[in-house]
Amino acid sequence: MSVQFIDFAKQNTAIQPEVDAGWAAVIAKSAFIMGPQVKAFEAEFASYCGVKYALGVNSGTDALYLALSALDIGPGDEVILPTHTFIATALCVSYTGAAVKFVDVEEVTYNIDPAKLAKVITNKTKAIIPVHLYGQMADMAGIMAIADKHGIAVIEDACQAHGARYKGVRSGAVGRAGCFSFYPTKGLGAWGDGGAVITNDEKIKYMVEMLRDYGRTDRYSHKMKGFNSRLDTMQAIVLSAKLKHLDEWNKMRQQVAAVYAVELGKIGVAVPQTVADRDHVYQTYAIRVKSREKVMESLKAQGIPSLIHYPIPIHLQEAYIDAGYKAGDFPVSEKIASEILSLPMFPHMTADQVKEVVNALQKAL
Ligand SMILES: Cc1ncc(COP(=O)(O)O)c(C=O)c1O
Repeated sequence: MSVQFIDFAKQNTAIQPEVDAGWAAVIAKSAFIMGPQVKAFEAEFASYCGVKYALGVNSGTDALYLALSALDIGPGDEVILPTHTFIATALCVSYTGAAVKFVDVEEVTYNIDPAKLAKVITNKTKAIIPVHLYGQMADMAGIMAIADKHGIAVIEDACQAHGARYKGVRSGAVGRAGCFSFYPTKGLGAWGDGGAVITNDEKIKYMVEMLRDYGRTDRYSHKMKGFNSRLDTMQAIVLSAKLKHLDEWNKMRQQVAAVYAVELGKIGVAVPQTVADRDHVYQTYAIRVKSREKVMESLKAQGIPSLIHYPIPIHLQEAYIDAGYKAGDFPVSEKIASEILSLPMFPHMTADQVKEVVNALQKAL
């Protein structure tokens, strides 16, 4: 038996007939850009998330950038975000010209620590971006309380948490806007790039709709200097087909995680913790190990792929030297970055495959 890090073959087979029919209809009309299929997916995704609007864009990075731009965030402003995340969370802030202000994460959830937020807030702070890392939402009550007290917008980076819930509310639906990536490996992944901004906020809806389409209000009128960042019609068809399965596939991920918990428990490896008021959707199954590089080498030799999300916190990346941070500034993130290890995880992973991974891990350890 072999185990892939991610194997979506069964997902693809499940949606292929619907996608084939949908794509054939688009090709027949040659209506490739902003077809009715995009609007249909936007309506379905907004309804799934429990918000008024979903706006398709061409990536998660653009979703974050356009949401920040919609709030007029730019040079002279500051945006707070965790340092333990994918670099795109920071890049989208930098694109606006605003300064990034990093905060450490919680040891248990790997998400931004609300207890450390208050001391980073200044009169320049315009937004906080909590990242729902690996599929579990951040402590939104703690974050919203501080943000509301200071009048700061919360833009959720939900790029790794499609369908996750906090006290029953879907990811992306708690803050002023939620941003999603539909990169192929995501819980809801396209067959190419894609993204969305979800919101109940009329201003954000109005601005993102304009910004993603050259800043135009109608075919020939351009109110602002916008971008070309639309969700591709072909991808909207894939996403509509997959969305119907998302809850079922997230449940399957939770079942895979439950098997991992039992098997890893037998060999004394700590498993990811889920906070009681949250539904974890296990976009990534991250454990912690010492001597990680040796463990990864041994896993590889045994035919088991593993990855690191993420080995270098953003405040220590060369790209962010200008932000002025140094090693030791965020001890929890730095410790996590040195120990975190992602094991294979996908909805159709079998119990036998999980056992094979854990057996190999036991040997590696
Ligand atoms: C937490 C996080 N933020 C932002 C992004 C950026 O999304 P995209 O790759 O679609 O630009 C990703 C995914 O890659 C992500 O995992």
